[in-house]
Amino acid sequence: MKILLSGVKPTGRPHIGNYFGAMKQFVDLQNEYDSRIFIADLHAFTTTTDAKQIREDIIGVALDYLAIGLDPKKCLIFKQSDVPQVTELCWLFDCITTMPYLMRAHSFKDAEAKNKDISVGTFNYPMLMAADILIQDSNVVPVGQDQKQHVEFARDTAEKFNRIFGETFILPESLILENVAVVPGIDGQKMSKSYNNTISLFATDEEIQKAVMGIVTDSSGGIPKNVYAMHSLFKTKEELDQIYSENEGKYKVLKDLLAEDIKTFIRPLREKRAELEKDLPNVLQILKENGEKARAIAEIKMKEIREKIGVSLY
Ligand code: TYM
Repeated sequence: MKILLSGVKPTGRPHIGNYFGAMKQFVDLQNEYDSRIFIADLHAFTTTTDAKQIREDIIGVALDYLAIGLDPKKCLIFKQSDVPQVTELCWLFDCITTMPYLMRAHSFKDAEAKNKDISVGTFNYPMLMAADILIQDSNVVPVGQDQKQHVEFARDTAEKFNRIFGETFILPESLILENVAVVPGIDGQKMSKSYNNTISLFATDEEIQKAVMGIVTDSSGGIPKNVYAMHSLFKTKEELDQIYSENEGKYKVLKDLLAEDIKTFIRPLREKRAELEKDLPNVLQILKENGEKARAIAEIKMKEIREKIGVSLY
């Protein structure tokens, strides 16, 4: 079986962009691949230092994974910080990567354009991600469009390492579904926690209603583009064509129909998550056991790497 790996950063609540762009694929593909899905908690420190919040968000993403249907019997569900070998590997990647190369990263350029005080961690973010991917010998990495370049960086880094130290890493490929590569938010831009335009994956009915009513519509009548785009996550083109031609120009009606579809979709997920939340020790036990397995896999790979780079003496 080919190896599939991906992760979500525990910074606030995942949204339907995370779900349709990436997380749904984790669930759909868990029978076809040897899947390893993790919580990217070390990456979260580029944007937060709030220990209490991090702890809550790690447990939150673990609950989210289980609630959407990831099965810990089929798929390793672990947190990144339980595999400290990734930081060891990240350092080695840092040493064979140049600053001009990393300066090409979209995430770095965005931060620079916003005149942010950029941490070394933010600059280095793609190398930690390369380590996550390569240490597990991953073949495929299901992600949204915004992570495509990061997977390419992992590929380049694998090639470079192999060239210098000998054949060690598999070259991974990203798996991006075209129609959900960039899920739009309520303002029509990419849905993103940092743009404040999200609908949370486990939102309450009231939150969904409020968010949908806030979708930005054009005033030209006809089809409200942003409403339609979000609706296409929940209904087929044929269904939508009928609904939107019957209700042309009736933005409020169309928004209400969309809100109903989102509520119907989210309700069972929310109920399952609430159920799982009643037994947190079980969730922590899953993370702990899977973390040990992921660490053992990474340690075998790291031993091979230490041999290759010449530091294994005994
Ligand atoms: P994160 O937590 O920002 O996002 C999780 C996943 O959701 C996708 N995504 C979207 N897809 C479509 N439309 C959107 N509007 C949208 N917003 C987010 C992201 O592309 C991602 O797949 N760096 C990663 C976490 C990570 C990782 C890894 C992923 C760390 N190491 C190794 C894969 C492999 C991140 O911050 O994702």
